[in-house]
Amino acid sequence: MMINFNKPYLTGKEMHYMYQAVYSGKISGNGLFTKKCQAFLEQKYGFKKTLLTTSCTDALEMCAILADIKPGDEVIVPSFTFVSTALAFTRQGAKIVFADSNDKNPNIDADLIEALITPQTKAIVPVHYAGIACDMDKIMAIAKKHNLLVIEDAAQGIDSYYKGKALGSIGHLAAFSFHETKNINSGEGGMLAINDERFITRAEIIWEKGTNRNQFFRGEVDKYGWIDTGSSFLPSEIIAAYLYAQLENIEDIQQKRKKIWMQYHDGLKDWCAKNNIIMPYIPEYATNCAHMFFLVFNSVEQRTSFIAHLKQHDIYSVFHYLSLHKSPYFQNKYEGKELTNSDRYTDCLVRLPLYYELSDADMNKIITTIKSFMP
Ligand SMILES: Cc1ncc(COP(=O)(O)O)c(C=O)c1O
Repeated sequence: MMINFNKPYLTGKEMHYMYQAVYSGKISGNGLFTKKCQAFLEQKYGFKKTLLTTSCTDALEMCAILADIKPGDEVIVPSFTFVSTALAFTRQGAKIVFADSNDKNPNIDADLIEALITPQTKAIVPVHYAGIACDMDKIMAIAKKHNLLVIEDAAQGIDSYYKGKALGSIGHLAAFSFHETKNINSGEGGMLAINDERFITRAEIIWEKGTNRNQFFRGEVDKYGWIDTGSSFLPSEIIAAYLYAQLENIEDIQQKRKKIWMQYHDGLKDWCAKNNIIMPYIPEYATNCAHMFFLVFNSVEQRTSFIAHLKQHDIYSVFHYLSLHKSPYFQNKYEGKELTNSDRYTDCLVRLPLYYELSDADMNKIITTIKSFMP
């Protein structure tokens, strides 16, 4: 039997709630299920306000608009991240200033940020890689000192914490993904979390195609119209209904994922130590939401043969981001230094299968197969 890299988990309630949404007669956005999801997330994680979006990319685009990014503004972003972290800001005309990752994990190296700040810098966008927190106290202090916004890319960070605070509740704004590869998914999906109250009213307008429709439905204005920029960022109720079924089961999903993560950790730690292969590093200030289990090999060749070895045994593992500063879109624009850690994770990191339905027998097979690889 083939073991895929990912399999989206179904709790069993998705179709039931989608059916309810469809037959409620209200299937466009911002209805009952959208409100239920938003209330659930605000209460559980302490976000001041949340708005569901159709993707994390959309939520990041909303952040770029809310941050009032204009041509010539600079935004500091790690190079080892998904395209959207940078793309959302370049669409507003920003110049992206890429930062390197840490030695110990792929998160942005907070000690390198201050040297990248110029009078044009508007925002810092830390990415919590694998749902493991960046050094947020340091990042927030730098932002405060230089009067910058912090926009957390928490695409992978649902149900993870930094010093007791939920990821996405620390920066001024944050973006989450509910893409099918994430712990909680709705196929495509995302969420904007707003922690700085100054942004709430405008965020609702941007979300609803630049109109104050939300205020109208709340009875705060007697008609609604076009008052700002924006787009159609909100998902339909059918997607929100699917998402609500997932959120209701978050404890169970997380427990299962954490069990699998620990099976990898315990099963591979001696093998990794013996072969000088790096396992995920979780700083003391961070929790682990078991979004991902990854290994960092010593070279691209070693990683390539590892992926091929697993594939020979019908197990699918995958590498991850390619340094954005070297991407075809950006390489001619990049003016900074070598980003050696980012390039190392590009070449050497591999993600192992991690999803709810992996059985103990599957885990035994994967771990045994990994250990039979001769690095
Ligand atoms: C760090 C990061 N940011 C943003 C995104 C974009 O998420 P979405 O597919 O929901 O737009 C991803 C995608 O996985 C990601 O890994």
